[in-house]
Amino acid sequence: MTSSEVPDTQKAWVSVRRGPPRRSLELKEDWPVLKTPQANEVLVKIKAAGLNPVGHKFMKLLPNWIAKRPHVAEFDFSGTVADAHESKDFSVGDEVYGWIWPLGLQQSTKQGAISEYIRIPESHLVKRPSNITPIEAAGISLAGLTALQALDAVNLEEGQTIFINGGSTAVGSFAIQLAKLRGAKVVVTASGKNEEYVRKLGADEFIDYTKVGPLHTFLGHTQPPATKYNVVFETVGLFDPSLYSHSSKYLAPNGLYISTGPQPWNQGFHLNLIPQGLRLIGALGLPSFLTGIKSKFLMVGVHNSVEDNKRLQTYLSEGKVKPLVDSVFKFDDALSAYDRIMTSRATGKVIVQVDPSL
Ligand SMILES: NC(=O)c1ccc[n+]([C@@H]2O[C@H](COP(=O)([O-])OP(=O)(O)OC[C@H]3O[C@@H](n4cnc5c(N)ncnc54)[C@H](OP(=O)(O)O)[C@@H]3O)[C@@H](O)[C@H]2O)c1
Repeated sequence: MTSSEVPDTQKAWVSVRRGPPRRSLELKEDWPVLKTPQANEVLVKIKAAGLNPVGHKFMKLLPNWIAKRPHVAEFDFSGTVADAHESKDFSVGDEVYGWIWPLGLQQSTKQGAISEYIRIPESHLVKRPSNITPIEAAGISLAGLTALQALDAVNLEEGQTIFINGGSTAVGSFAIQLAKLRGAKVVVTASGKNEEYVRKLGADEFIDYTKVGPLHTFLGHTQPPATKYNVVFETVGLFDPSLYSHSSKYLAPNGLYISTGPQPWNQGFHLNLIPQGLRLIGALGLPSFLTGIKSKFLMVGVHNSVEDNKRLQTYLSEGKVKPLVDSVFKFDDALSAYDRIMTSRATGKVIVQVDPSL
């Protein structure tokens, strides 16, 4: 296909106002296709799109003037190159996956993943390995790179032990596999129903977080010093700072605490958020001689990196890391896909099938 055969308009799920997805999103039949790739860009015909919590959180949180609505929703996609422009690395017909990120790129181009076409810098794409389906590939970039970049940030090494809070989150599922690849011992939390899921991914030890009471108390009391963690990776986005503020009890000397970022809107509004927020501000904002907290708080901020995209692609093509799919929804039923991810119970990615022939 050349750009002359690409239609001028497309179907797209567009965020038009602030609110939960059922209020924020409208299905447009005539959304413009940015047909002509500029320097270092290609045009991709999308096959599938993956949802991420950041998508619906920003819909609910950000006013129009910050979110720069309207724009197409979501970030992760897979598809086929429809116009390779002047690319040396991609040709028309190549099977690819990638993401539109950061938020500013989505906002300035008005594009997103739940649409039929996307014009995207080629640095944000890689070729899809043949052992990965388009549905699987649509859920890789954002969560996979978050896990990869978090483990890089703490420099997890062979023989070390990592505690992953939230082993069945999409980020946690990638983190378990990547930590095992690095030769680390992996201890994870999940609810009991997901024990088999995280063990299959490589978790060595499992803690059912629904059964042990406050996690920081459990870890502080039950872990003998010999099994202290070199890294705690908090993937859930807990707003309560307790896991961090007590972490010197279960972190090894020089151990590191890294988080995907405390998020008040994870659990919806409840009154406990106020004292939790005050304790969080204290834990992160006050000097350690006042709080007694010795561990440093690191936060991963996922970013695009050609090298990281290629590393992840290599692990996937070698079968060392597997993408995980929770559920697949038809394009017209994208709002039900949001209902699913917003339960916070998904194991693996929630995918919207854009190409009906898949
Ligand atoms: N900073 C960044 O750059 C960045 C990047 C990506 C994601 N994030 C954030 O990271 C978080 C995770 O994202 P995701 O896409 O991986 O989430 P997700 O896949 O939607 O998470 C769903 C999973 O969370 C588990 N879970 C929920 N509450 C839990 C708890 N208290 N303890 C342990 N597990 C729990 C659920 O398992 P159970 O049913 O067993 O509870 C379910 O399997 C989100 O808050 C997201 O916004 C940040």
